Amino acid sequence: MLITLEGIEGSGKTTQIEYMAAYFRETGHDCVITKEPGGTGIGEKIRAILLNPENHKMDPLAELLLYAADRAQHVHEIIIPMQRAGKIVVCDRFHDSTTVYQGFARGLDMGLIQRLNALVMGDVSPDVTFVLDLPVELGLKRAWKQIQNGSRNEAETRFENEKRQFHEKVRNGYLTLALREPDRFCVVDAAKAPDQVRAAIVERLNALVK
Ligand code: TYD
Repeated sequence: MLITLEGIEGSGKTTQIEYMAAYFRETGHDCVITKEPGGTGIGEKIRAILLNPENHKMDPLAELLLYAADRAQHVHEIIIPMQRAGKIVVCDRFHDSTTVYQGFARGLDMGLIQRLNALVMGDVSPDVTFVLDLPVELGLKRAWKQIQNGSRNEAETRFENEKRQFHEKVRNGYLTLALREPDRFCVVDAAKAPDQVRAAIVERLNALVK
């Protein structure tokens, strides 16, 4: 099983992933937590290039291909072997991030993105995708607070530095995808307190592992 988490900056994915790991531990399921970009050793190197604010001149196509390269490595090195070993894989961001950030927000050709995603993912596809949805202003406020208090890495702020309009496109992109695939997507109101967000996620997970 593959579960993915998506959302704008500051949507609280990290906290909810920790809760999910605890949920699977407590219910006796073998689960592995991973992330994109950077779920592998090679991926960590790609991640450093992608998120470094000094790389503000990065060409959008180069950006897309780096995310695809990171995903190819991750799918083959981690996701497929873990699924074969019978584990539940929980991934912090996956191919929907590419559709939304590089497609809806950067405006790259959607057909190209779909072909690349298909090439890189092969038979791998998420069973459930949680979108932690909240107003952009609130998300960015939370993200910058975390950068200032050191709980978010200052060397990884290339996307936080994007204009507010960019993040609006990201948010709307997720909501558009969720409307297109209502069976796979579960949109959760992430403006609420972490415990309430957790409760909404657990409800869906209960139905999933039954
Ligand atoms: P992440 O470290 O998860 O940041 P955050 O904690 O803010 O969610 O993700 C890094 C950034 O990479 C994030 O701003 C979204 C972006 N991204 C893309 O643009 N395309 C992609 O395919 C992926 C996986 C991430």
